[in-house]
Amino acid sequence: MTDPTSSPGRGTVLVTGGAGYIGSHTCKALRAAGYDPVVFDNLVYGHAEAVRWGVLERGDIGDRARLDAVIAHYAPTAIVHFAAYAYVGESVTDPGKYYRNNFAGTLTLLEAARDHGIGRFIFSSTCATYGVPSEIPILETTPQSPINPYGASKLMIERVLADFGVAHDLRWIALRYFNAAGADPENETGELHDPETHLIPLALDAASGRRAALTIFGQDYDTADGTCVRDYIHVSDLADAHVLALAALERGVESQPLNLGNGNGFSVRDVVRTVEAITGLPVPHDFGPRRPGDPPALISDARRARELLGWQPRYADLDAIVRTAWAWHQRNAGTPAI
Ligand SMILES: NC(=O)c1ccc[n+]([C@@H]2O[C@H](COP(=O)([O-])OP(=O)(O)OC[C@H]3O[C@@H](n4cnc5c(N)ncnc54)[C@H](O)[C@@H]3O)[C@@H](O)[C@H]2O)c1
Repeated sequence: MTDPTSSPGRGTVLVTGGAGYIGSHTCKALRAAGYDPVVFDNLVYGHAEAVRWGVLERGDIGDRARLDAVIAHYAPTAIVHFAAYAYVGESVTDPGKYYRNNFAGTLTLLEAARDHGIGRFIFSSTCATYGVPSEIPILETTPQSPINPYGASKLMIERVLADFGVAHDLRWIALRYFNAAGADPENETGELHDPETHLIPLALDAASGRRAALTIFGQDYDTADGTCVRDYIHVSDLADAHVLALAALERGVESQPLNLGNGNGFSVRDVVRTVEAITGLPVPHDFGPRRPGDPPALISDARRARELLGWQPRYADLDAIVRTAWAWHQRNAGTPAI
């Protein structure tokens, strides 16, 4: 039975983790494209007020009975799966938490999809599955060798997806994001991680005085300025890619992984300089030791996603990414740093 409040369109999509950062932006994009998102989130890290483009069903992906009830009620034709824990450091100190939630939880979700005949699945994978990459830029064919349980839990799911695809009527795309950043250009949703570990919001916090200083981990890497280099991708561009990936599965493209990044590397110092230029404020910062497991550089080759999906990032330069993040930061300026 479909939800009586939904409008006829391109179909209902179950969005796990849709109350989170990337999930909320993707719900906005799905709704704009004519889909009906149904958010399935336990709100452990998500925010009910971020669910603005669909209904919120509270539940845990490890709870099969709850999944069955929600799926039976809304009859989604596809699942977009964001729900996961994503703190790399914590995954090292508490790996069971990550394998339980990310791996076992996703297995429960996939079995529910199989049993309810849901044949399309988009999965949030990550550049962390590559570990310390053997080549730059990183292609989908670059060997995957994760160096922490978070990345390993995601790689294990990619393997399960491949096996389910062979055994069952399931087609999937695993989107391997590089560093998601920025906020909705209309400032309707944005990044609200608690705790926050991502560089751009931390630098904005330091600039605005919500945080005393930004700590830069390592200044002796083999990179142009000694700090780590990352490929930042605007969250709304990621959201667009999910909509296009769903459409691709609808037209019959084969199951596969796709990198999502801009193919540009920016160092931590580049990001600090850009934050200072956009905000007009200095970013107080100090230097700490390297963090174990931080590769010097992660830069994507995302040509396959561009060619296969017709995906064209709209906010590809770092200025646009930081500008939207700053607007969102200012909207939330009254709230304490998290
Ligand atoms: N942010 C990035 O740069 C980045 C990069 C690569 C991959 N990813 C992946 O993208 C996805 C989304 O990341 P995000 O930054 O939006 O994180 P987020 O924490 O903002 O969102 C995750 C959401 O999943 C929910 N959730 C977690 N476990 C759940 C469970 N068992 N049942 C139901 N809901 C659950 C949380 O409440 C939260 O709303 C994650 O899978 C993450 O691993 C993120």
